[in-house]
Amino acid sequence: MANVAVIGAQWGDEGKGKVVDWLASRADVVVRFQGGHNAGHTLVVGNQTYKLSLLPSGVVRGKLGVIGNGVVLDPEHLLLEIAKLKEQGLSVTPENLRIAENVPLILPLHPALDKAREAARGANKIGTTGRGIGPAYEDKVARRAIRLSDLAEPEVLSRKLDELLLHHNTLLKGLGAPTFEKQALLDRLLELAPKLLPFAEAVWERLDAAHHEGKRVLFEGAQAVMLDVDHGTYPYVTSSNTVAGNAAAGAGIGPNRIGYVLGIAKAYTTRVGSGPFPTELHDETGRLLGERGREFGTVTGRPRRCGWFDAAMVRQAVKVGGVDGLVLTKLDVLDGLETLKLCTGYRIGSEVVKRLPASIAQQEAAEPVYEEMAGWKESTKGARSYAELPAEAVKYIRRIEELVEAPVVLLSTSPERDDTIVLRDPFAG
Ligand code: GDP
Ligand code: IMO
Ligand code: MG
Repeated sequence: MANVAVIGAQWGDEGKGKVVDWLASRADVVVRFQGGHNAGHTLVVGNQTYKLSLLPSGVVRGKLGVIGNGVVLDPEHLLLEIAKLKEQGLSVTPENLRIAENVPLILPLHPALDKAREAARGANKIGTTGRGIGPAYEDKVARRAIRLSDLAEPEVLSRKLDELLLHHNTLLKGLGAPTFEKQALLDRLLELAPKLLPFAEAVWERLDAAHHEGKRVLFEGAQAVMLDVDHGTYPYVTSSNTVAGNAAAGAGIGPNRIGYVLGIAKAYTTRVGSGPFPTELHDETGRLLGERGREFGTVTGRPRRCGWFDAAMVRQAVKVGGVDGLVLTKLDVLDGLETLKLCTGYRIGSEVVKRLPASIAQQEAAEPVYEEMAGWKESTKGARSYAELPAEAVKYIRRIEELVEAPVVLLSTSPERDDTIVLRDPFAG
């Protein structure tokens, strides 16, 4: 089976965009199956930098991009992102982008509710991207979402808006936030309809045909396993399943067609937003990682929290995410550090455990148990072969493989597309 799924193995921003862009040269179709424009994927190709949130990273390679039904789609944002890419010389049309006709839409009331709720939470806020992701998924599960196909049926749309507004305006009023008027929403959606409907189709059928034609499909995950709504550090998570298994439900394919699952992990750890982070560093090393790794959120510009590589957490992500092989990114950011630490488990009270428990109180109480390793002095930035890596870097990678119980199959050594070391071709299965 020559398909590959790429998922984050930490708390996001591991470099999925770069890896998907690199792998896309070997694929025919690139599919987003969950999340929305809360994602921020950065691709560096020569002197061009592309920042994608909603569009599958494969469009930059000229491959067919598919937005699956598991995504929540903000139509205004989609058109903005397409316009931005046009300025960079890339054309996104119904020729190279297909969107599931049953994808639920994010409307302006979703970010409004997202932000109003975060404000009301005060110190307990989740630190969401404020883009309405949570409220949009809630509406989908509550069976009141407006879906792309509804834009073709003004009467259905009008009726569904009544139900949606009854719910949202009640909540917004209760939170002291401005409410929404139906007519303005309806008018805008009907104005957007002719721009969006040409992209809509039953993507499951296209993916089925692609399978029968022997085409290679790349599934592009957003967020990461520790942000998964079931398996992550709940409630400090996003509102979708980010594990590879969701590529099936979120695209409309069978689970046996997902193929090889690549988990992406940074050589250290970062997190944006609130929530437990056992290996977080509040010292000079943490500051250095943030500065060298340019750790600022792609979507919100917030500084990312930084810490040591948490092998216990990545091991857990490998197991629940279904990861076959790992990609280790940003090894270059560790260049010159004298000593490196790897977290192998957690001390919680008087116990030492190898996994993060479900209890948020225990996650917050978890003290990392570290193993120390020697760093390397040489630069690994831009290395394109294993032979170029210092012996200590190779030892660090080998130890990570042992601890997380998965092989490292690719290495990324700079933001640039081609600064990638291949140890094993994921499309070879
Ligand atoms: P994603 O959300 O997983 O796609 O990751 P982001 O694009 O949000 O964040 C990863 C950042 O690291 C981006 O700015 C990339 O350009 C950059 N990056 C990716 N791989 C490497 C690498 O190997 N080394 C360095 N220094 N930067 C990298
Ligand atoms: P990529 O695909 C890092 C985080 C937010 C917040 C939590 C919930 O670029 O790796 P949401 O807006 O989804 O309800 O926010 O999830 N978050 C991400 N953190 N990378 C992302 O995407 C993220 N998408 C959401 O910061 O803590
Ligand atoms: Mg990102």
